[in-house]
Amino acid sequence: AKPVIVAIDGPSGTGKSSTSKAVAARLGLSYLDTGAQYRAITWWMVTNGIDIEDPTAIAAVAGKPEIVSGTDPEGPTITVDGTDVAGPIRTQEVTSQVSAVSAVPEVRARITELQRALATTAERGIVVEGRDIGTTVLPGADLKVFLTASPEARAARRSGELNGADVNATREALVKRDAADSSRKTSPLAKAADAVEVDTTELTLQQVIECVVTLVEEKR
Ligand code: C5P
Repeated sequence: AKPVIVAIDGPSGTGKSSTSKAVAARLGLSYLDTGAQYRAITWWMVTNGIDIEDPTAIAAVAGKPEIVSGTDPEGPTITVDGTDVAGPIRTQEVTSQVSAVSAVPEVRARITELQRALATTAERGIVVEGRDIGTTVLPGADLKVFLTASPEARAARRSGELNGADVNATREALVKRDAADSSRKTSPLAKAADAVEVDTTELTLQQVIECVVTLVEEKR
């Protein structure tokens, strides 16, 4: 069978990662978390004292860190210059700064190139999750899914993951990050015209996984 390319986009807390990983594992495909790549380059900027408020400074060093993603859905990995950053990229410090870094066009060009290289070399195909995969990174994807959910549902899921962090504060942070990601000039968070929208508000994770697996199978 020819490799199948699946793009899964949507705002935070819609179940993109859990869904994408499970679908890839079920179908024997590779998996790429593009948010982890933007978090990794942000971690490198923060660690090296680059001024996050200064897009010119960010652009000047965007090509420096070497970011490598392991694409096994059973155990995805991410390194920066050989250092495992899977833990550090999930801190509040990185989360609050990633939208500013990922809005810089030079950063996006660099990361998009890595994403396309991984997608074209995945032998059996790949599930790529992010914000602009269907619109910009892989416009020719075999299937595009856009996941949504109410802000309340998204905040509840996220604060559950963060071991009961305050739901109101979590919702505010989520809404703020989505607004920044949706309003930036270069490839904002958006639903591709040919994407299938799935509202996950009332669905369990298992139901979302079944739905996407069925959509992929219909395309094969
Ligand atoms: O998916 P996750 O929440 O880990 O993404 C972190 C951030 O990375 C997003 O808020 C967004 O700023 C950026 N991102 C992006 N384009 C993508 C994936 C993530 O700009 N394709």
